[in-house]
Amino acid sequence: MRKVIIAGNWKMNHSVSEVLTFFSTLSEKRKDLEALENIEIIIAPGFPLLAYAQSLAEDMNLPLKISAQNMYYENKGAFTGEVSAEMITPFCSHVIIGHSERRSLFFDTDEAINKKAHQSLSSQLTPIICIGESEAERDSNQTLDVVHSQIKKSLKDISDIEVSKVILAYEPLWAIGTGKSASTDQAQEVHQSIRSYLSELYSPQIASNIPILYGGSVKESNCSELLNCPDIDGALIGGASLEASSFVSIINKIKYFSK
Ligand code: PGA
Repeated sequence: MRKVIIAGNWKMNHSVSEVLTFFSTLSEKRKDLEALENIEIIIAPGFPLLAYAQSLAEDMNLPLKISAQNMYYENKGAFTGEVSAEMITPFCSHVIIGHSERRSLFFDTDEAINKKAHQSLSSQLTPIICIGESEAERDSNQTLDVVHSQIKKSLKDISDIEVSKVILAYEPLWAIGTGKSASTDQAQEVHQSIRSYLSELYSPQIASNIPILYGGSVKESNCSELLNCPDIDGALIGGASLEASSFVSIINKIKYFSK
C-alpha cells in the first residue's frame, strides 16, 4: 500500500512572519490533522526558513515533514550561492528536484537532476523528482515520450533499493500556476504510463510502491477527483498551499483516501 502524500511547494513565498502565521493557523486546526494514518504532509519553504519551519513544527507538535525546494549536487566547495545536501539535512527530510521552474529559469538539466537525485539519496534525503511536458509537447503528442525520457535520465544508475525511496511528481508545465489543471483522464493516462514505464525499468513490484504525485493547479475544488484516480498518489501544490486554511481544506478532502 502506498501513502497519500500532500506536499506544499511555497516557491519564493513567505517571510518569517508569514511562516509563523501559517504554522499558528495549522496549530489551531490541529484536530483536522490528527489521526492521519495513511497520509504524509510535507511543506517546502525557502532555504533560509527551513530551520525555522522545522522548529515550529516540532514545538507545535504538528504531524508534517519539511522539504527543501532544491539543492546542489556537490557537497562542498567553490560554488557561490549554492546549497548542499549536507547543509540542509539537519532541517528537512525531503528535497524537490527538477521542478519545471528550476529546469526552465535556472537551466537544471536532466544530467544535473540525476546527480542531485544520487546526492540526495546518499544524504538520506527523500527526493521528489519532478517531470512534465510543455503545452507544445502535449499538442504534438509527445507527452509520454518526454516524460519517459525525463524519468530515464533522472533515474540513471539509481538502484532498485534506492528507487524505492524516490517520490515522483508529474507536473504538466501548462497546468502550473495557470489555474488550468489536467483533467482526470489526462492525468491518470500519464500516471499509469509512468507506472508501467517504471515496471519496465525496475519491476512491477517496485513500480507499484513508488508514489507518483500530480501537480499543477491542484485546489480544494479538484483535489478529490484527481486523487480518486488509481495511479495518482498525492499532490504537489503551489498556490493553494500558501494559505493554511486552503491547505487544510485539501487535506480534509482526501485524508481518508487509500492507494
Ligand atoms: P501550482 O504549482 O499548484 O500553483 O500550479 C504547483 C507546482 O509548481 O509545484
